[in-house]
Amino acid sequence: MRPIANSILDLIGNTPIVRLNRIVPNHLKHHEFFGKLEYFNPGNSVKDRIGMAIINEAEKSGRLKPGGTIVEATSGNTGVGLAQAALLKGYKCIFVMPDKISEEKRAILRAYGAQVIITPTAVEPEDPQSYLSVSQRLAKETPNAILGNQYHNPANPEAHVLSTGPEIWEQMKGDIDVFVAGAGTGGTISGIGKYLKSKKEQIKIICSDPVGSILADLFYHGKVITPAHGYLVEGVGEDMLPENVHLKIMDDFEKVTDAEAFQMTRELVGKEALFLGPSSAMALVGAFKYAQKLTKPSKILTLFPDSGKGYLSKAFNQEWLKQNNLI
Ligand SMILES: Cc1ncc(COP(=O)(O)O)c(C=O)c1O
Repeated sequence: MRPIANSILDLIGNTPIVRLNRIVPNHLKHHEFFGKLEYFNPGNSVKDRIGMAIINEAEKSGRLKPGGTIVEATSGNTGVGLAQAALLKGYKCIFVMPDKISEEKRAILRAYGAQVIITPTAVEPEDPQSYLSVSQRLAKETPNAILGNQYHNPANPEAHVLSTGPEIWEQMKGDIDVFVAGAGTGGTISGIGKYLKSKKEQIKIICSDPVGSILADLFYHGKVITPAHGYLVEGVGEDMLPENVHLKIMDDFEKVTDAEAFQMTRELVGKEALFLGPSSAMALVGAFKYAQKLTKPSKILTLFPDSGKGYLSKAFNQEWLKQNNLI
């Protein structure tokens, strides 16, 4: 049993791992699959871990002063992670989100008292209207403000080196062969990958990457072969290389289509009662693809970043799925 926590921040981390059963295809039953359920965090996603870490680091380094403002480009979850820590520590938040992000996620950030600014998704990262450019400008223009900078801030992967990685190692009792996750900022996979490899060099770190993202091209070819194009899974894949995507930590990439990811989102809830977001499903599709290449029975853990609640109007809405040719 957990002791009484002094604040919600003490409840971040120590998320459970569950064995996957009915969803494992017959031809992969010789492997064992597990999922780490990050929606058990108080803000319902893996990003609680970095929200607190980014604020702690900014306080320690003296960049963040009492009463200050945190500006961040976020697809939603990092916003919640930052907002809950900021609330309890007396900071304000301004979040900049691309317009492809669901209305539920915007509403959640507003519920935490944050100011939310929506920017167009379909512009280059360098465009002054892009969510990255707008967040950088606001951080400069707002008095006593810092940029959370989750894409390049080393406090992001470090949070996973210090918490998620050790949790996985302990929970699996060191008996893990493959770790699979998606990469958005890259913090999750880079930090966990670094920690797990420090414990067991042979462990394979596999990145599931949406079709439309350039990360797999950069891994295989060191340059973009297929230019970035739009896709519907939120929070993962990139059209640029964040400093927190440490390609050297990764052993392989698996490409996943929107159709595969959204189908798996429904299967996860239908077969395992796991109500998860599409990026979790995308990561699992990649895990199943990679598992086909393994010659020995293996223990494969996939990280599931968030719950399905933020996607009711999309992944769990028949009309939206039909409009987007996903069923
Ligand atoms: C839903 C979701 N899944 C996965 C990720 C990817 O995690 P990371 O940014 O640590 O690579 C994110 C990041 O924003 C996300 O919001």
